Amino acid sequence: MNDSKVLEVEDLTIDYIILGGTIKAVRNISFSINEGEVVCLVGESGSGKSTIGLAIARALPENAIIRKGKIIFKGRNILDEKSKNKNVDGIMIVFQDPAASLNPLFTVGEVISDVIRCHLAIEDQSKIKEKALEMFRIVDLPDPERIFNSYPHELSGGMLQRVVIAISLSTNPKLLIADEPTTMLDVTLQAQIIELLSNLKKKLGLSMLFITHNLGVATEIGDRIIVMYGGEIVEEAGSEELISNPLHPYTKGLLECIPRAHIKYSRLKHIPGSIPDLRNPAIGCIFSDRCSWVMDKCRIVKPPLREYVRDHKVACHLYVEDE
Ligand SMILES: Nc1ncnc2c1ncn2[C@@H]1O[C@H](COP(=O)(O)OP(=O)(O)OP(=O)(O)O)[C@@H](O)[C@H]1O
Ligand SMILES: [Mg+2]
Repeated sequence: MNDSKVLEVEDLTIDYIILGGTIKAVRNISFSINEGEVVCLVGESGSGKSTIGLAIARALPENAIIRKGKIIFKGRNILDEKSKNKNVDGIMIVFQDPAASLNPLFTVGEVISDVIRCHLAIEDQSKIKEKALEMFRIVDLPDPERIFNSYPHELSGGMLQRVVIAISLSTNPKLLIADEPTTMLDVTLQAQIIELLSNLKKKLGLSMLFITHNLGVATEIGDRIIVMYGGEIVEEAGSEELISNPLHPYTKGLLECIPRAHIKYSRLKHIPGSIPDLRNPAIGCIFSDRCSWVMDKCRIVKPPLREYVRDHKVACHLYVEDE
């Protein structure tokens, strides 16, 4: 394994078993995250972003089945571990609703103290508190002492998200997975959390998988962007490259009509048609039903994800030389 890689996902394929069928949620996903890099997963609702994040954090729901693939972290395949949902030391995940990840009956001080005690094996109460207050300062929370003694309902949404990030970081993770962490916040708070995460990335050399349906947010925080559609990766490139030179018709569609100046916080543009039925995904290109450039071949043969220009991969027959 390349030493600078924090995480390597290889050929990851995950189904959900539902009453009367199987949802083929993500198929043949491969990508990696380098040390200190922020990689964004972008795509419409249902494209499989959270499924990938949950698989890496080993927090998939009971009805999920990993059909194949590897997730290599610190040189070992974490999917080899026996139990399905085993916390992986060094990987933390932050969700979109901070209140849901905190028990309303405990003060945030009690929660973070517990995490510090378990993960860092510190027993001394005053040392634990010192560490907790330090973490609150790192995420720029004002008045850490007051925060420590507060119950979740006494704090605003933006503050709670900072608290949850502080709790996650108190375990010294190598990889932070953030699943739509700003979706429930207003635009100003959203910008503040993005800035905080960008600063933490620089300050702590944190590697991050950032999940969002908002391409503007992705370009803001991401070093690299992976575009997903219907459970597959359709394009992957550096943020600047992706925005200035989108190749896949789906990515082009997402970017069309969004003036560059407004790209920051605009949502993905609506593309005509609906997302594919994942009980029975197309054998050819997953986007063929909605693509304006569709060719006969696209409906029969799946285009492989290939590097088309340097460090820019795309899965589309428009960019494959005819065999
Ligand atoms: N527990 C589950 N049981 C059955 N199907 C599920 C389950 N969780 C997700 N799915 C399905 O798997 C597919 C991928 O879902 P996933 O939540 O990974 O998408 P997402 O890109 O995170 O979407 P969103 O932007 O809405 O969060 C969708 O078709 C979804 O309906
Ligand atoms: Mg999701």
